[in-house]
Amino acid sequence: MVARLRAAGSVFAEDEARLLLAEAATPAVLEELVARRVAGEPLETVLGWASFCGLRIRTAPSVFVPRRRTELLARRAAALLPPGGTAVDLCCGTGAVAVAVAALASPGVLHAADLDPAAVACARGNVEPVGGAVSEGDLFAALPGTLAGRIDVLAVNAPYVPTAAIAMMPPEAREHEARLALDGGSDGLDVHRRVAAEAPGWLSSAGVVLIETSRPQAGSTAALLAAAGLEVAVEHDEDVDGTIAIGRSRRMEP
Ligand SMILES: C[S@@+](CC[C@H](N)C(=O)[O-])C[C@H]1O[C@@H](n2cnc3c(N)ncnc32)[C@H](O)[C@@H]1O
Repeated sequence: MVARLRAAGSVFAEDEARLLLAEAATPAVLEELVARRVAGEPLETVLGWASFCGLRIRTAPSVFVPRRRTELLARRAAALLPPGGTAVDLCCGTGAVAVAVAALASPGVLHAADLDPAAVACARGNVEPVGGAVSEGDLFAALPGTLAGRIDVLAVNAPYVPTAAIAMMPPEAREHEARLALDGGSDGLDVHRRVAAEAPGWLSSAGVVLIETSRPQAGSTAALLAAAGLEVAVEHDEDVDGTIAIGRSRRMEP
């Protein structure tokens, strides 16, 4: 098994073999899992789970696999959430960020949403058991209207890869994750633009929006939040190589 995995390009073939062995109930299932991995499917979707902030998150074929760099977004979202506050994971994929926020903080309301039905189904399996709700739809249109003006922490890991750069991504992502999860438009910022424009109307008076971005795109993502009237900051974590832009509401209560 190790030789087959290595020949297929796996750098950590021994570790992968150990994980696949632990997951397979029978030799026939093991063979099926190894064949999927050798065909290039991400290890996490073959296993059916990914590790994120020390938690096991259920994965599903074609649904974006949570990345280590996104742990920065989840940890900062949890740290900024007041006890009993309202947290939303927009563009939730598996719902990994929402699950981590539930584990690291004490949300009173937890909501996740995504446009992709496969992601929504996967997120329901992860987020509902920790007390959250998941809905399907285009960005804020998926959220219940009752959340407008009430979100304390809005965590967003939307697609931000420029369309032309998708061809340079590893085949695991390019061929096995939904295009909708990756493609951020010509400069990668199409979804960030829409999130920044609409976020202020959804945040509570002291609410914050956190958007994962890349180091080269961070200034542009932050500028979009500033143009929407938010007070902005950019944070980077070397350990996980994560970058986020944060926008704080400056709305005065009447
Ligand atoms: C980069 S993935 C991130 C998934 C998850 N937040 C994570 O960190 O693992 C982006 C997600 O955004 C979703 N998405 C893309 N465009 C969307 C839109 N207009 N409205 C809602 N979700 C969208 C995709 O389906 C995908 O699940």
